[in-house]
Amino acid sequence: SGCAVAVAHPNIALIKYWGKRDEEWVLPAADSLSLTLDVFPTTTGVRLAPQAAGDRVLLGGQEATGPAQARVADFLHLVRELAGRREPAVVDSRNTVPTGAGLASSASGFAALAVAAAAAYGLAADPAALSRLARRGSGSACRSLFGGFAQWHAALDAGGGAAADRVSLAEPVPAAAGLEVALVIVVVNAGPKAVSSRAAMRRTVATSPLYRPWVASSVQDLTQMRAALAAGDLNAVGEITERNALGMHATMLAARPAVRYLAPASLTALDAVLALRERGLAAYATMDAGPNVKVLCAAGQASQVAAALREAVPQASVVVARPGPGARLVAG
Ligand code: DP6
Repeated sequence: SGCAVAVAHPNIALIKYWGKRDEEWVLPAADSLSLTLDVFPTTTGVRLAPQAAGDRVLLGGQEATGPAQARVADFLHLVRELAGRREPAVVDSRNTVPTGAGLASSASGFAALAVAAAAAYGLAADPAALSRLARRGSGSACRSLFGGFAQWHAALDAGGGAAADRVSLAEPVPAAAGLEVALVIVVVNAGPKAVSSRAAMRRTVATSPLYRPWVASSVQDLTQMRAALAAGDLNAVGEITERNALGMHATMLAARPAVRYLAPASLTALDAVLALRERGLAAYATMDAGPNVKVLCAAGQASQVAAALREAVPQASVVVARPGPGARLVAG
């Protein structure tokens, strides 16, 4: 129809994606597993503009230029190649999450863009194909095609390049019906991050002596995580989540030069999480490429956990998220 609008929500990895084995095809070094949230959706419209000289990109109503525009234009180029089309487009993307603050705006952003662009260019695509497509924009975006828990397959058996491209995608992961979780987000600093996750993971892979051991332990974490989700064991899910995230940050701290995303307030939040556990609550932290701390807990205890974190980190804003839906087309 030449015009489409899609909505996608961010996802937070419980088993992290950190490092690519193939930059061009965005193929990861290992599988990862995430939870899609019900907060901070991105809404993206794509309208074909046959008369325009090139792609226009509006982010939050502002014309994007430089690398931000180029990354979206490169993605549209890929969609056009797959669809056998040539027309440029206007992309209008609105985010409800602070961009660049480690709150996974690239995940919701490229998931929504993949769905809207595929529809606008008439590319017939099911969720699996859209997950593969979103992956090319930003690795973590492939998981936001699905609601709830999702696993992104690294497809190591398929090797690399085009062969692995066909099978490296996310799939929903079943969890025990009784497992009702919340993710309490401690927004420590909503400013832009110092080093992009793309550049930071490249540096980690190239220089950190802890990188390979972390990947090896992450493979085991993923197997144990699937079992813990199937069993509905929140304490096991939380323990695996927290150790996987701390391990990822250890690999970055050992990179040369070091990449450090955690701020003093992040550590204050981690202390508060430990104190909650000492009081008998199941609360476990995870952190991405930024200082914010996300705390996994039982849905029924989320307001108690949020209150404790507000008290411990008064300068932060605290948001309670629940599992959310996969990316979907809303118009077009
Ligand atoms: C720390 O998906 O943003 O959030 O593929 O280079 O776009 P690119 O990286 P990106 O990395 C996300 C890293 C992470 C962990 C995760 O979401 O699994």
